[in-house]
Amino acid sequence: MKKQWVLVFCGLMLAASFSLAELNAGDEAMILPGGKPGDVAFPHKLHQDALQSCDACHSMFGQQAGAIKALIAEGKLKPKQVMNFCTSCHRQEAAKGSKSGPTSCKGCHSR
Ligand code: HEC
Ligand code: HEC
Ligand code: HEC
Repeated sequence: MKKQWVLVFCGLMLAASFSLAELNAGDEAMILPGGKPGDVAFPHKLHQDALQSCDACHSMFGQQAGAIKALIAEGKLKPKQVMNFCTSCHRQEAAKGSKSGPTSCKGCHSR
């Protein structure tokens, strides 16, 4: 009986450490290629913490650097499709009165 509880406890600890590791996966900040109006600085960790979900974005593209560019090249994503997704979430959050991100070109693009 005691042994079983120890096993359950270890299992829970393992599950907890895995989900934490998952939550901190990937670069904290990155620069996304943004075409003519310039690159886009993207605070990755801020979004992981704020959204508490990976799928919010990664159901659209994989968890690899360059995933978006590759899907656009394959014709599986349209140019600006991810951008419109970023912007529409920011707009929705702002409309609710929550903390949000930029919706103007210059708020994201460097040029
Ligand atoms: C708000 C959108 C968003 C959310 C939420 C998000 N990511 Fe990402 N993630 C991105 C973008 C954008 C990239 C860059 C893709 C590219 O380079 O084409 C990326 C890239 C990555 C990469 C590869 C690049 C690197 O830094 O190693 C990993 C790993 C990753 N994400 C893990 C995660 C995990 C784990 C979660 C959930 C805890 C998560 N992401 C949540 C947008 C997001
Ligand atoms: C929330 C941040 C954000 C805002 C606001 C934003 N963009 Fe973007 N933009 C991106 C990201 C990220 C990409 C790269 C991913 C993609 O193409 O969807 C991009 C890509 C682009 C591209 C390159 C598309 C291509 O053909 O390869 C152009 C041009 C562009 N944006 C113009 C604009 C203009 C004009 C505005 C203002 C009306 C704007 N962006 C507002 C984030 C943003
Ligand atoms: C599902 C919702 C959602 C998506 C998708 C999303 N964001 Fe955000 N973004 C947020 C929220 C919420 C905040 C405010 C977080 C905070 O300040 O705690 C934010 C903040 C930001 C900020 C401001 C950071 C700061 O320091 O003030 C930038 C820049 C940004 N997002 C860029 C992007 C880009 C680029 C994408 C697309 C690749 C994107 N976001 C996709 C919800 C989203």
